[in-house]
Amino acid sequence: MRNLINITDFTVEELQALMDKALDIIAKPQEYAQSCKGKKLASLFFEPSTRTRLSFEAAMHELGGSVITVSGAAGSSLSKGETLADTARMISCYADICAVRHNLSGSARVMSKASSIPVINAGDGGHYHPTQTLADILTIYREKGGLSGLTIGICGDLLYGRTVHSLIAAMSRYEGNSFVLISPEELKLPEHVVEKMKADGIPFEETADLEEALPKLDMLYMTRIQRERFENPKVYERLAGSYILDARKMHYAKKDCIVLHPLPRVDEISTDFDSDPRAAYFREALNGKFMREALILKLLAEKDLPAQEENIYSDPRFVCVNHKCVCTHERGIKHEVYYDADGTLRCAYCDEIIEA
Ligand code: NCD
Repeated sequence: MRNLINITDFTVEELQALMDKALDIIAKPQEYAQSCKGKKLASLFFEPSTRTRLSFEAAMHELGGSVITVSGAAGSSLSKGETLADTARMISCYADICAVRHNLSGSARVMSKASSIPVINAGDGGHYHPTQTLADILTIYREKGGLSGLTIGICGDLLYGRTVHSLIAAMSRYEGNSFVLISPEELKLPEHVVEKMKADGIPFEETADLEEALPKLDMLYMTRIQRERFENPKVYERLAGSYILDARKMHYAKKDCIVLHPLPRVDEISTDFDSDPRAAYFREALNGKFMREALILKLLAEKDLPAQEENIYSDPRFVCVNHKCVCTHERGIKHEVYYDADGTLRCAYCDEIIEA
């Protein structure tokens, strides 16, 4: 069975096929109106969500299917001490496919191992958010005419912003892209993302200066400072409001530099820029619904295919101790590790280094 846990679970050909399918759905929605008749999507959102949950649910309704929902950890048996693995086994009895959001890195992966229906990662802590990336790439594809040869600015909370990690993993696979990573020192990319970019030879520069970076960008991905992921609220207070993009600053950007944002925004994009044709973030949210329709169709159609191959090992000497990883919370978990391109041992759930 296929799942979508990490955006690299799909090849670039598969991503292209998803975009083609989404464009076909946009052109001929009536042809898809009964495609999921009799099928149920379980939408399990143990963390807050507006767009992702509603776009998944709207997507399933538009395909003629139905939806069952959990919204908030307090309303589910997780609050009684049920494991994610058991929750996944239960959901498999009631639905045909599920989308899950949870605050721990690796949570969707744990569920996919126990589930007998396809699992979609709708955001696992500060780790990954592959379906936001589906929305992002369709937007870039439609607005820029392709996904290669772009100078991509990413600004804000690169440390905790899971959408950023998945976007980089996706856009690094297209020819000729380079990245300008704009953040305060404390919110630079996590080590595992940087190491992967270095190993793959992806050109990137890091800066704290948005205004200086703006003129060279073909697109700018703004992000919110992820308040809920900070251990010390004082650090959040200090970094909040670090970047505010507005119509005045955008005078210095290229005339065709699109601005994306996974949303919700706080104050990092001023509303005075919303009416500029380069402001693509609300179109991006709409594209997300069509890509989720294409994704649901794909995973249901490929239900009987074998799961993606993984080069994973399990050895009782190698245990993940990252307290934001599902490994340190889920009872009975089998710790799993892999060697990255540099031979560094990493946790298969959260990608952090394992100290042997
Ligand atoms: C993002 C998320 O949940 O990671 N939102 C979304 O899914 N569109 C970004 C965010 O919360 O800042």
